[in-house]
Amino acid sequence: MSDRLEAAQKLAGNIFAMGHGVLTPKVICDHGEGIYLFDHTGKRYIDFSGGPHVVTLGHADPRVIGAMTAQMKKVSYFFRGFWLSEPLLALAERIVKVSPPNLKMCWFCGSGSEATETVIKLAHQYHAERGKPEKYMVIGRWQGYHGMTVAALAVSGHSGRRRRFVPLLHQWPKIGAPLCYRCPHDLKYPGCGIKCARELDELINQVGAQYVSAFIAEPIGGAGTACMVPVPEYYPMIREICDKHDVLFIDDEVICGFGRTGKWFGIEHWGVKPDIITSAKGMTSGYTPMAVVIIDEKIAEVFHEKGAVFLHDFTMAGNPVSAAACLAVLDIIEKENLVEHVARVGEYFFQRGREKLAHHPTVGDIRGKGLLMGIELVRDKETKEPFPPERGAAYRLQQIAMEHGVMGYPTTGVDNGVRGDTLLLSPPFIVTESQIDAAFDLLDDALTDFEKEFL
Ligand SMILES: Cc1ncc(COP(=O)(O)O)c(C=O)c1O
Repeated sequence: MSDRLEAAQKLAGNIFAMGHGVLTPKVICDHGEGIYLFDHTGKRYIDFSGGPHVVTLGHADPRVIGAMTAQMKKVSYFFRGFWLSEPLLALAERIVKVSPPNLKMCWFCGSGSEATETVIKLAHQYHAERGKPEKYMVIGRWQGYHGMTVAALAVSGHSGRRRRFVPLLHQWPKIGAPLCYRCPHDLKYPGCGIKCARELDELINQVGAQYVSAFIAEPIGGAGTACMVPVPEYYPMIREICDKHDVLFIDDEVICGFGRTGKWFGIEHWGVKPDIITSAKGMTSGYTPMAVVIIDEKIAEVFHEKGAVFLHDFTMAGNPVSAAACLAVLDIIEKENLVEHVARVGEYFFQRGREKLAHHPTVGDIRGKGLLMGIELVRDKETKEPFPPERGAAYRLQQIAMEHGVMGYPTTGVDNGVRGDTLLLSPPFIVTESQIDAAFDLLDDALTDFEKEFL
């Protein structure tokens, strides 16, 4: 073992009081370049996890670094309660341009969880200012994930992440995930009549629409459902149900936003206009933390008409360096037509992924859109029986894949929240077909090794 690794491991043991959850890093990340990361020995890894779904332009892009450095030379921080911020204003204008046409206002913060906290409060105050102060409850979906903070976890249905903290959480109701591979209603599309969408109407009726402020969902599932793509009727039905009950539709695009699925926002695949979008992760490609809430003008108008203050802010939110990074990322995405590239290369990504991996006896399903793929691992392909959770199949596959030089993001809980293993892939948008071939060759070998251990 190198001295450097030994020192890092010792320090981690001493200073990370509770470790990093279920993941156990074994190597030091030394540097990145394009789609690759390199460890302390110089070994190269194809970064198809992108963190989880963060890296869009690849690592160490000199154009983003240049834009951030230029801004830092001018000024790195000022509080936007005191000053107008040109980079932030320019960014808001750019974001609105690529957003669904009804979304006209931006609110910046630092993470996806902060964005979720923001919209829970915003939705309630919007209704309260309109004379409906009882509307406070946000309905989410089982296996949905919207962040780790207390309110964000309350609207999340990812059992594995929330169960330990249930006593701290609002007990707000949830509907099932629109996941056909494991239909929560044991029905089959299209004969199901899209029960998973109708369930929202039934639930709002039961709870009482006068108490429900919003419904929150990821357009294409992330950590909980591993890139589940709902059927075409799903979001149009959700939109109609929300309208019927005066409930806001919050579209969590923390993963899907800014091009990941081959459109600027994932919900565009359904042609539906949400009332609010939250986004984070890829918007700065990971060069700096940033998140945004994009808001329908009808919501902003209520605040303006009432002269209402939205008393909600974070010290570091929307700082000019993050704004400069995000502007540079959006510039490159636009100039290089990367959203269109994601749509095009995404077709190849899925074709190649299925060719190379679908034959494996442990690969139960491959799903997703654009450059966002979920691979569901099963013990038995026929019955879809998952591996026992205590075996940690997804985490082990991630380790084996890293040994082979390729990275994916392991998640668990797709089967009723507590069982089920998945590996998520989110390559940088700049990925080429030959790099996709190379990554799937490595993943193919990794799965073969994984199966020697697990079958
Ligand atoms: C869909 C979704 N929403 C919200 C979050 C929370 O974002 P963050 O980790 O930046 O707080 C995540 C994180 O993975 C996410 O996937």
